[in-house]
Amino acid sequence: MQKLLKYLLYKKSALKKNFLPLHEPDISKLDQKEITKIINSGFVSSVGKDIQRFENIISKFTNSKFVITTINGTAAIHIGLKLLGVKKGDEVLLPSIGFVAAANAIIYNNAEPHFVDSELNHFGVDPDKLKEYLKKNTYISNNKCINKKTKKIIKAIIIVHVFGHPAKISEIIKIAKKYKIKVLEDAAESLGSKYKGKHVGNFGDIGILSFNGNKIVTTGSGGAILCNNRYLAKKARHLVTTSKLKHKWEFIHDDVGYNYRLANLNAALGISQIKRVNKFIKKKHEIYKRFNKLIDNSKDLFLLNQPKSCRSNFWLQTLVLKKPSVHLRNKILTIFYKKKILARPIWKPLHKLSFLTKYQKMSLKNAEQIEKKIINIPSSCYL
Ligand SMILES: Cc1ncc(COP(=O)(O)O)c(C=O)c1O
Repeated sequence: MQKLLKYLLYKKSALKKNFLPLHEPDISKLDQKEITKIINSGFVSSVGKDIQRFENIISKFTNSKFVITTINGTAAIHIGLKLLGVKKGDEVLLPSIGFVAAANAIIYNNAEPHFVDSELNHFGVDPDKLKEYLKKNTYISNNKCINKKTKKIIKAIIIVHVFGHPAKISEIIKIAKKYKIKVLEDAAESLGSKYKGKHVGNFGDIGILSFNGNKIVTTGSGGAILCNNRYLAKKARHLVTTSKLKHKWEFIHDDVGYNYRLANLNAALGISQIKRVNKFIKKKHEIYKRFNKLIDNSKDLFLLNQPKSCRSNFWLQTLVLKKPSVHLRNKILTIFYKKKILARPIWKPLHKLSFLTKYQKMSLKNAEQIEKKIINIPSSCYL
């Protein structure tokens, strides 16, 4: 740990930074030139060719047939759940270890979050616990998964690929299929990550990405819906453009819609950024190797590697304590903070947030452990 800290301090000083952030975007002169070009063209908002161009590039990169960009990843989850038919009174499973956007998006759809546990190695949904839980607590009726206790439909599950490491997606999909549950993959952090050679976000019914300023590729703020179903893609595009029908001059909207389309200005930045995505991923793999050497057989912690048969994008480098300990975790966080190096714990498990405590959950023992074990450390490409 001392060697790692020393290296980060050296970098902070060499880069003449007051503090070392967790993750900074890598904005090049070329990115700036592209943005200026769009500003000068006047096509800064929802009309412009770069939106479609960016979607085509993401489609090629992820191998997802259809890509619909959105103002952010949260909006993509909101609409993604709608596409899966999530309605008032439905239940949606989601891991307690995940970003709050997923729980919010369920509630935006008037549905109810229902928390499931995560596995201890890479913090995705735990397929074994999920299988046991569904077996005990649900039954199938009319091709729908019914919660024995509430008699409500469990319509979908949200899976998170945490910090760019693919979850155990094949196993989870198999279980979801058996129980007639639709799958939304939250790949917000995982552009470029692959599970058995296939880009994440393509295994479930719907996938989503985020291009927030802290992600591996940024559009400032932005997101995308990935899907391989033409009908759903068409519906998504309609919903995110205020449900407006095509017409030369009339404003006809045939349903409640959402003003969720990515702006052309943001898309232009995305096009410029994504040209370097493979370079970014390569750098992140190098950072992992460098940091791993610097940690050097610590008795207390290790640096998280990618799962077997996966290629992670290593978006955020992650220290894992060998034994869960809030005391040790906070001690390390304090050391980093004192040196003006930003580090952070994993999200507070969602079932502990005051507005979410009332919702259903399975035993979340692993989530409670994970909370006490994780420290994310600076991971920008320049490290
Ligand atoms: C796992 C996860 N899901 C969803 C989101 C939401 O994305 P956005 O911030 O673009 O709305 C984020 C990122 O912030 C995230 O990390």
